[in-house]
Amino acid sequence: MRSVPNAPTILVFDSGLGGLTVFREIVKLRPGAHYTYVADDAYFPYGQHSEDEIIARVVPLIGELIAEHAPDLVVIACNTASTLVMTHLRETYSVPFVGTVPAIKPACASSKTKRVSVLGTRGTVKREYTKKLIADFAAGCDVTLVGAENLASLAEAALRGEPVSNEAIAAEIAPCFLNGDARTDTVVLACTHYPLLMDQMLAVAPWPVDWIDPAPAIARRVGDLLGAANGLTGTPETRFIFTSGQSPSPILSRALAPFFDARMLA
Ligand code: DGL
Repeated sequence: MRSVPNAPTILVFDSGLGGLTVFREIVKLRPGAHYTYVADDAYFPYGQHSEDEIIARVVPLIGELIAEHAPDLVVIACNTASTLVMTHLRETYSVPFVGTVPAIKPACASSKTKRVSVLGTRGTVKREYTKKLIADFAAGCDVTLVGAENLASLAEAALRGEPVSNEAIAAEIAPCFLNGDARTDTVVLACTHYPLLMDQMLAVAPWPVDWIDPAPAIARRVGDLLGAANGLTGTPETRFIFTSGQSPSPILSRALAPFFDARMLA
């Protein structure tokens, strides 16, 4: 990996606002870095696009973003994209990449009932990549793949201050909860949008489970790649970009504030 300057620029990319759940963990670990957050809202939701469409969209777009923002590291904070494009990106660009893929290995390792559900977009649960993770790491667990049709859009709506009913969320997550000889005790959050709905998911879950959010592990991986912690070198710069060209509404701006270090908004 090329040498990283004292205050690196980290580009965090998602189809929308879900990548903020990864972004906030990286900021906690590296508050002195410069950040560019890119939401490809012009193409949201990725879960509704075909594999070929996502590759054709994301690979050149990341190239344009690298040319424009010269990041030292790029985080693809999107399972729906990462389960498809990481090899293409690493073959095409020399910048280091960190992806986000379903945390099947730790979930299966920690499940006591050996019954785990993977909650992702319809795209992510169909991927060969995801099936291979199960084949390699299920470790005797019975893994149920649950492709949620609208959960990412509901998370976006909630963050924008629109009402999202408990019933709508309960319907999306219901297939995760299997009862029988063994009952599901672990749910993998395999879409970066879903932790945005954590409070409501906890409220409507039919019984308590461990929800596995890989964001802290992704942040640690970013930290490892960047090397020893940098000293703070002044106010970090944060850019927030929507590919549609829109600027955040006042409601959304308020909702985004907790994801940023206070100094970033100063
Ligand atoms: N945040 C994304 C993920 O982690 C995808 C949501 C979507 O665009 O469908 O999969």
